[in-house]
Amino acid sequence: MAGAAPRGQGPSLRATAELLLLRGDLRRLDSTPALPPANREGLRQRIASELGLLPWLLRQDGDPAGAGRLRPWQHRPLSDPAALKALAATVDALLARHKLDRAAFLDPPPTVADLQQARAIYATYCAACHQGMGNGQPGAMLPARDLFLMARREPADEFLARMVQGVKGTAAIRFANPLTARQIGAMAIMFRRAPPSR
Ligand code: HEC
Repeated sequence: MAGAAPRGQGPSLRATAELLLLRGDLRRLDSTPALPPANREGLRQRIASELGLLPWLLRQDGDPAGAGRLRPWQHRPLSDPAALKALAATVDALLARHKLDRAAFLDPPPTVADLQQARAIYATYCAACHQGMGNGQPGAMLPARDLFLMARREPADEFLARMVQGVKGTAAIRFANPLTARQIGAMAIMFRRAPPSR
């Protein structure tokens, strides 16, 4: 499906990346008991906005049935663990049909030059906010976290999805992600391999 649409904007990639984000955020909410309250609330709000957007993205991607399965969750309270688990199972079922096109990011695999560029992009454009942040500042709702830690701990597809959806450009490019798929793939590999610089 590596396709005609610009990277990060094709309907398939957007729907799949948003599903992966929702799945990852549900897992974090469910499996991180020590999550600071502000961060917990931030995740809840993001899950609500993912649920608001996904039915539309799934319809665009030719999956009205999938959209129909998610829509009721926009009105269900997500406060109890059983509801979170049921929603996670629904998202897993949808992900079985909406798979990330990993080859668009990683085939052919990044070269040494790609990895060096990835490191330079990080040092110039990302480190100021993300470096050494661990799991993020406890008081923030959606804190900037350490990308090296995330890349190691999260499933590879989820981290790629976070890189697709989480990197924002400036107003001049309508906050679109300025990174190419190849740069995202190289950065994901670099984060997983390299020790964080100090
Ligand atoms: C001005 C500060 C700042 C800069 C610069 C910045 N980020 Fe972020 N980033 C944040 C904050 C704050 C968040 C958390 C809010 C959110 O998820 O939208 C975030 C979120 C993310 C996420 C999503 C995390 C998640 O939980 O899903 C990724 C991935 C990411 N950034 C990668 C990058 C990369 C790669 C760069 C450099 C190209 C970069 N960021 C530059 C502040 C920054």
